[in-house]
Amino acid sequence: MKSPIQVQLQYSIFIIIAILIVTVIPDYRAGIGISDVTGPIVQVPFLGYANMFQRGTGIHMRQFARAFIIEEDNQRIAFISVDVAMVSDGLRQKVLEDLRKKYGPIYSEQNLIISATHTHSGPGGYMMELLLDISCFGYVHQTFNALRRGIIKAVTYAHESIQEVKIFISSGILLETNINRSPLAYLLNPKAERDEYEYDVDKEMVQLKFIAKHNNTLLGVINWFAVHPTSMNNSNTLVSSDNVGYASILFEKHINKDKLIGQGPFVAAFCSSNLGDVSPNTKGPRCINTGDFCDNIASTCDGRSQQCIAFGPGKNMLESTKIIGERLFKKSLELVDSSESEELLSGLMFAHQYIDMPTQQIDHAFANGSLIKIRGCLPAMGYSFAAGTTDGPAPFDFTQATVSDNSMWSLVRDFIAKPTYDDTICHYPKPIFLPTGKIQAPYRWQPRIVSIQVVIIGHVVIAAVPGEFSTMSGRRLRKVIENTYSGSGSQKSKVIIAGLSNTYTSYIVTREEYDLQRYEGASTIFGPYTLDIYLHLYKNLINSLRAREDYDKGIAPHDISRRLLSFPLPVLYDLPLLGHSFGDCIKQPAHKVRKGDVATAIFVAANPRNNLMLEKTFLTVEKHVDSKWIVVATDANWETTMTWKILVFITGYSQVTIQWHVGKDTPSGTYRIRHYGYSKPFFGNIKPYHGSSKTFKVY
Ligand SMILES: *[C@@H]1O[C@H](CO)[C@@H](O)[C@H](O)[C@H]1NC(C)=O
Ligand SMILES: *[C@@H]1O[C@H](CO)[C@@H](O)[C@H](O)[C@H]1NC(C)=O
Ligand SMILES: *[C@@H]1O[C@H](CO)[C@@H](O)[C@H](O)[C@H]1NC(C)=O
Repeated sequence: MKSPIQVQLQYSIFIIIAILIVTVIPDYRAGIGISDVTGPIVQVPFLGYANMFQRGTGIHMRQFARAFIIEEDNQRIAFISVDVAMVSDGLRQKVLEDLRKKYGPIYSEQNLIISATHTHSGPGGYMMELLLDISCFGYVHQTFNALRRGIIKAVTYAHESIQEVKIFISSGILLETNINRSPLAYLLNPKAERDEYEYDVDKEMVQLKFIAKHNNTLLGVINWFAVHPTSMNNSNTLVSSDNVGYASILFEKHINKDKLIGQGPFVAAFCSSNLGDVSPNTKGPRCINTGDFCDNIASTCDGRSQQCIAFGPGKNMLESTKIIGERLFKKSLELVDSSESEELLSGLMFAHQYIDMPTQQIDHAFANGSLIKIRGCLPAMGYSFAAGTTDGPAPFDFTQATVSDNSMWSLVRDFIAKPTYDDTICHYPKPIFLPTGKIQAPYRWQPRIVSIQVVIIGHVVIAAVPGEFSTMSGRRLRKVIENTYSGSGSQKSKVIIAGLSNTYTSYIVTREEYDLQRYEGASTIFGPYTLDIYLHLYKNLINSLRAREDYDKGIAPHDISRRLLSFPLPVLYDLPLLGHSFGDCIKQPAHKVRKGDVATAIFVAANPRNNLMLEKTFLTVEKHVDSKWIVVATDANWETTMTWKILVFITGYSQVTIQWHVGKDTPSGTYRIRHYGYSKPFFGNIKPYHGSSKTFKVY
């Protein structure tokens, strides 16, 4: 028998040890935020398919920035996923500039990652790099500012909500959600390497979840699954965050219940990964004229790219977006509930380097032991880049897998900038279509200085990569990092590739895939050894981090924000349709709308570019409850769309058509549709207006 004193003593010692453990092991803290980044929804071409005819006419879903700040022991990292086609160093620098003003040196190049989801249905013109801004008629300040402001806001909300958390990682296999769109290029990888994997695309979704420590509430999730957000094709002109954006909204609505979209507090980010050769159009490409299979190597029908388009899994692009979005959401939810999730216990490290790719020279050992010197080339795009892909073929007569020059186009090219013999050798077998690294007029066309960045949270390594890695490129990078990081005898690491982060350098394929010069190979801009150079760079960076030794941080690219060219016309003026005021409802919805049908209202409108309505909305669907009107949907909802149309150009007349797809599970009752906007008079400032439809019954 122990005496009461002994028990007391044991008990006290136990408590002291517990306190010691708690104070010695630093806890994770995290803050999460979301904010609207939707740019001008009309008139500006979308960025993604590089199709200047794909110009916005309205909105289906809003674009958001989702920010996650993780802290341990006074170290911080910030990870931001943005519903946008890509991000550039120019944008990141301005965001960092604003954050420095606000918070001092807490957030820097070293610890802040901005990763694009890669939706192809948002307005462009914000990249500050000519190759990407050119199809949007140059720089569009409104798009840029919406992104800059929204990203800062998301980080601010995250910064202000930091609290003690537990972080868990889990992963699972998701089938029927992605396919390889350049399978023949993939097949050029060594058989032994391919045999290690079951599929020619990655099927694993990896997810971090954040739980509040004080009451075990689920605060947010970040997950990565390799798939292009190109369920919406290049005929879509309504702003959309595509399949991954829809998955985010589904999950956020699931947890936030009655909150409007984008208003938190729970945030779910569906992020890009090694999606370079990965399509969501799971039925694969077909000739749209005949229904036959396309030519396999070039992806053409009768020698042309335009007819060869990938579809599925739905009947049309909206249904496909919905199906892919739902599958992503369901898997993510399953992972949240998974009992196999592992807690991240401690550790937070980060490192970032600016690398001038064309000057890289590295001794590279092949698997067979032979050693060569490999180098990066000046950025250049091959001919197959101009063909586009089966997710969105380009409107010209180029085809994929082109390995020879075209004499007519090479004349045009030489007129802009002539590649040297050395450039040609460096990029071989890629025939150079655009030597983007050689052209500096009017300003940078493509980056040559890139961001290399890693953050390590517990045993999870996030490698932020400056572009679209192909499936096998991503696998090789993960493997190199795993081997390097676990080499220390620590717990086996889990490596995640955060795609399209910080800098956008188009694609990164393996040396073997490069040989076929499909679209992705033609868009691997630093030449055949681009990936091998990255593998060396990431390995060295991880080694420096592990050894806690200094490394060269590199030199940031020049700020070119003062040299940009911008051609979009300003809004001149708006006038209401004769005999009407702005906001008048000129076509009412039906008195009674059956569940499952569509309610449509048309309003006298002004140009939506007058005010982007950030964190607000161009429309509401409202329900009458206890003599009050409750907003049940905004322009961010899947169920609503708004399409803007100019009626007579010179007069400034325009209208919007608002549609509400009444869900089968919508409660019966009395509803109305409202429209909000700003109009620009001939003289003076823009003014707000709004209008409402008559009430109607949903039954
Ligand atoms: C948990 O705490 C947060 C505040 O940090 C609060 O907003 C939330 O409602 C709480 N959840 C539950 C289930 O009590
Ligand atoms: C886009 O998808 C629609 C179906 O939603 C299809 O009719 C159309 O042909 C596709 N267009 C292109 C250019 O991919
Ligand atoms: C080793 O492999 C590389 C790349 O596959 C090849 O170029 C080289 O010729 C090989 N060397 C030998 C000695 O087989």
